[in-house]
Amino acid sequence: AKAEIGVSGLATMGRNLARNLARHGHVVAVHNRSAQRMRDLVEHFSDEGAFIGAESAQEFVDSLERPRRIVLMVPAGAATDAVIDEFVPLLEQGDVVIDAGNAHFLDTRRREKALSEKGLNFVGMGVSGGEEGALNGPSIMPGGPKEAYDALGPLLEDISAKVDGEPCCTHIGADGAGHFVKMVHNGIEYADMQLIAEAYDLLRKGLGMEPSAIAETFRQWNSGRLDSYLMEISSEVLDHVDADTGKPFVDVVADEAEQKGTGRWTVQGALELGVPVTGIGEAVFARSLSGHRDLRDAARGLPGPAGVLEGAGAEGFAEDIEQALYASKIVAYAQGFNQIQAGADEYDWSIDLGAVASIWRGGCIIRARFLDEITAAYRRDPALPTLLTDTSFSEALAGAQDSWRRVVAVAAQLAIPAPGFSTALAYYDALRASRLPAALIQGQRDFFGAHTYRRTDREGTFHTRWAEEGRPQEER
Ligand code: 6PG
Repeated sequence: AKAEIGVSGLATMGRNLARNLARHGHVVAVHNRSAQRMRDLVEHFSDEGAFIGAESAQEFVDSLERPRRIVLMVPAGAATDAVIDEFVPLLEQGDVVIDAGNAHFLDTRRREKALSEKGLNFVGMGVSGGEEGALNGPSIMPGGPKEAYDALGPLLEDISAKVDGEPCCTHIGADGAGHFVKMVHNGIEYADMQLIAEAYDLLRKGLGMEPSAIAETFRQWNSGRLDSYLMEISSEVLDHVDADTGKPFVDVVADEAEQKGTGRWTVQGALELGVPVTGIGEAVFARSLSGHRDLRDAARGLPGPAGVLEGAGAEGFAEDIEQALYASKIVAYAQGFNQIQAGADEYDWSIDLGAVASIWRGGCIIRARFLDEITAAYRRDPALPTLLTDTSFSEALAGAQDSWRRVVAVAAQLAIPAPGFSTALAYYDALRASRLPAALIQGQRDFFGAHTYRRTDREGTFHTRWAEEGRPQEER
């Protein structure tokens, strides 16, 4: 018998995806550049399902039924191009190559074009959920041609996470759409992690709470509207005690957050599209800042206040932080969804934003109860300009805002950096403002560079002759 699908690239993610497929009763061909990994997989996991181990690319291709379905799970970038180049000459019309790595969506567009010219289908597929998700059900974001999804969808939906019986997998859109949406998912993941980290820092430094107490507070929040995987694992991390020192784990870990780059891609893409994803931006910058030991060492002696809230001043502050966290989270997600819409407009994808929120409810790193609300908001109004104005969110923001403002103010007073909370509030207020100081910026630009401006009271483009007496205005 031949295999229904093949997986090439058997590091943790690839191996777990192959096992997930096999556990669902699919015959899976497995291949790895160095064959030992393949042999290990077949040796250790054959009791889980049917694997066909392939020693070479040719053997792998020959072991698959037609049209072939080949999942690549290799590092993004040059490694992905190298495997594609190796397989393409061995494939035939109608075969489907699925890149399940964290590829940049522009690479996916390029690859899709090149392969479609050869009569091959290329599916750039975002997969979220880490090792555990890959094995037990990830959230899957496939792009590429609709026909490829028609053939592939049932199998992917079969192995994806399920929420309320619905698979966390849907066709996202043409060519790079799946990887684009996965990229924004990761950007939102960065923002969400940063906000939770700020909430922790405020509870710790603002109220003097110990990590284990904060873990308990997070557990309580996790039983309400903040219910999410990231909240849940944050409690676990905060509860963890380092075996060597007996200290809280969080106190012995170097406070320098690393990144593999998908958050940075999100922000780079947002800059190109002109979408203010300030929450994701601050999250990416906060990670880079934390890693600049040199700057931090140089600046440590700079003056600033210290102290914690006490007595009546501390009352209700933990609840305020919960409110600020929820409000800031709404803003971060609203910005991310605006970026997805902007990407869809730019690259001609038709992306169902409600469906995206829906497939993020399970399997992925940002899975959360809250995503149901986002789906509902886009079902109510598919053309919603921003999630902030949907009734359920605008009400939550209205209810949160006093607390949110207090948290940002107290953070500034106590010298606790809260860039995520602050930027979210600034975004909220900037969108609400009837006038922005952008008018002054237009004046400055016109003054030094004759860059012109528009007026509020009539149509046209104007320039003021700033150097001349009486500063006459001319229409340009
Ligand atoms: C996921 C994760 C996954 C990966 C992150 C980590 O959705 O399963 O997002 O893709 O763990 O990319 O990213 P950083 O190393 O950049 O934090």
